Amino acid sequence: MNTSISPTKLIRIGVIGLGLIAEYHIRSLYTISGVSIAAISDVDSNRLQLLGKQLQLPAAKQYPHYEALIRDPEVDAILSLTPNDVHFDIIRIALEEHKAILAEKPLTLTWQEADQLKKLYTANPVPFLVHYKHRYGAAFQYAKQLLDEHKLGNIYNIQFRYLMDAFSPYRQHPYTWRHNSAKAGSGVVGDTASHIIDLARFLVGEFKSVAALLHTITPERPDLATGLPVKVDVEDFASFHGIVGDNTVGTFITHKNAIGKRHDIEVDIYGELGALHASLNNRENIRIVLRDPEHPDAEYETWAVPAIYDHTAYEDFVKLARGESVDRAPLFEDGYKNQWVLEKILQSWRENGRLVEV
Ligand SMILES: NC(=O)c1ccc[n+]([C@@H]2O[C@H](COP(=O)([O-])OP(=O)(O)OC[C@H]3O[C@@H](n4cnc5c(N)ncnc54)[C@H](O)[C@@H]3O)[C@@H](O)[C@H]2O)c1
Repeated sequence: MNTSISPTKLIRIGVIGLGLIAEYHIRSLYTISGVSIAAISDVDSNRLQLLGKQLQLPAAKQYPHYEALIRDPEVDAILSLTPNDVHFDIIRIALEEHKAILAEKPLTLTWQEADQLKKLYTANPVPFLVHYKHRYGAAFQYAKQLLDEHKLGNIYNIQFRYLMDAFSPYRQHPYTWRHNSAKAGSGVVGDTASHIIDLARFLVGEFKSVAALLHTITPERPDLATGLPVKVDVEDFASFHGIVGDNTVGTFITHKNAIGKRHDIEVDIYGELGALHASLNNRENIRIVLRDPEHPDAEYETWAVPAIYDHTAYEDFVKLARGESVDRAPLFEDGYKNQWVLEKILQSWRENGRLVEV
């Protein structure tokens, strides 16, 4: 069945899960043309009604259960923005209904769920984008071009860091679903490592092996309502390394206790002819050093990131939904392979940090 939407038709979007990331998605939707928010869903009735009012949606389009929203014939495309334990079922029903899907990461709670979805997706593909939004960072897109042009030659080592201070004790971040393995699947592995895994796959290639060290810095957090401590059963620190792409050693670190780093991804890439540094917070420039026999002592220079790399996941999603092809977008297959790397990181840690094949 052809699931794409005609290029002139408005794409009617159903948003499921109206929390933190939904604010970002809804703001982004207003920056592009050809889409409208047709329906919303959340289990939190206050949130549902408040946003319904803001968006001037009739009560019939404010769904307490996502299944009715997905099956609504006046909804063409789904944004799946709930905690991770709901992702599988939303995607399953959306595939059944042949709806275009923008799915939040991680793709699913577990590898087994991702594998089940792979079978359903293969039998019945739909336009599908997984929201590894940092792949769209302009500096990373430019780095991709330079690597494709073999500017650095063979890549020996990549070092990726995704650091925030959101969970630092002084911020007194309460206990949420993110600290509960039954709802999140893992801690920072699925939450933030999934982004740098996507970037590594995008820039350098597939993971071949991985060894992990996971740790929980803050073992309990206060319940939002009672203030009483609740045990955290997921990691809030992850470091891992392994072979990525064509024999590149990748080293990765992510946590949310990095005081002074509000939110940054830093990428260092070392190759036989040079090195480059790109970061999320510097969209304008990358730092690069290229050496050859005529320039044996060349130092890092700053290169401006061309404006052509300023585009968003939404532009790609709308194109996909209309049946157009897109370049470099994170698709279903990326979500699936990413989930496999997450599984292998968790396996490595269960086996005391053994280097496991991916
Ligand atoms: N791509 C990114 O950079 C990025 C950033 C943040 C969050 N995320 C992902 O987005 C998802 C949501 O994260 P968040 O920070 O917005 O969480 P959140 O807790 O702020 O919001 C989740 C919302 O989903 C609602 N919800 C829970 N169960 C539901 C159900 N069965 N049906 C409908 N709604 C339901 C909750 O009531 C809440 O409003 C997670 O999967 C997270 O990993 C991605």
